Amino acid sequence: MAVDLGVQLGSLSLRNPIIAASGCYGYGLEYAEIADPGDLGGFITKSISPERWEGNPPPRLAEAGNGLINSIGLANMGVGEFLAEVAPKLQAVGTRVIVSVACKVMEEYERVVERLEEAEGIDGYELNISCPNVKEGGMAFSRNPRVTEELVRRVRARTSRWVTAKLTPNVASVAEGAKAAEAGGADAVSLINTLVGMAVDYRTRRPKVATVTGGYSGPPIKPVALAKVWEAAGVVKIPVIGIGGITSWEDVLEFMIVGASAVQVGTALFADPRLPGVLTGGLAGYLESEGIGSIREIIGTLDTGGAFQVGVPR
Ligand SMILES: Cc1cc2nc3c(=O)[nH]c(=O)nc-3n(C[C@H](O)[C@H](O)[C@H](O)COP(=O)(O)O)c2cc1C
Repeated sequence: MAVDLGVQLGSLSLRNPIIAASGCYGYGLEYAEIADPGDLGGFITKSISPERWEGNPPPRLAEAGNGLINSIGLANMGVGEFLAEVAPKLQAVGTRVIVSVACKVMEEYERVVERLEEAEGIDGYELNISCPNVKEGGMAFSRNPRVTEELVRRVRARTSRWVTAKLTPNVASVAEGAKAAEAGGADAVSLINTLVGMAVDYRTRRPKVATVTGGYSGPPIKPVALAKVWEAAGVVKIPVIGIGGITSWEDVLEFMIVGASAVQVGTALFADPRLPGVLTGGLAGYLESEGIGSIREIIGTLDTGGAFQVGVPR
């Protein structure tokens, strides 16, 4: 039986639901040398800013509790160099290309997206409004639903390309942020970005990343991410893209069952750049063994058994 892994994120169709997450797949060209991008439904570039950013001082990475703390601080080449050096080569990568944009103030998002509109081969944008390890902007944008809505609205006015807003989990409720992104005209919402985390060396009494706190990612954040995706999927009509701690095809199914239409894989790519092919193989095998023709049949099928849900505003 041939199974269909294709998913639809509003106007954007993907050959399968696996997307490489921003910051964990370079600019898309580097990984193409070691793993087949054809295994991916799409990839998201490292977040691009108006000019080159050097990021935070080292150390910027620390392992912690089976996960990773990073304080990269959105180091990137800036939109000018991206347009000159990377964008012309993106069409040849052979999968959907989504460019992540991160800025310090709202107007800059408009300007960067306007410039990116010049380039062909870009299928959409992910607005990173949720980075926890930068001083200005970052997760402050998506912590405020009014700002989220306004920012998405402004970008929406500048492009007819597909747009998703990437939300922070570092809030009491992601429902408000998701609704705000939808109201602003986003085609989808992506969640979660990293949790604020901290690692300490008890011998030196020093924090393990130079910024003291950083963004926590990897397997330990999966339960938090599932809860946030479930919460968001219950309040918006636009597709939700689930992110957080995915390492196996079973994880992908869990995210889709709670309501994600696609997922992103981040930290796990550092350990195994070929993981996307393993995930799609596993998903196809499962669907086939269960006699399920399309992965779309899985989306939003959580059976709560009518359970009383504590503290989930739906
Ligand atoms: C080293 C590193 C760099 C990251 N850089 C970005 C970034 O530039 N933009 C962004 O939106 N998210 C960034 N992220 C967050 C990931 O895209 C993802 O949301 C998060 O790591 C959770 O997924 P995971 O547990 O699969 O890694 C970064 C994560 C890591 C580990």
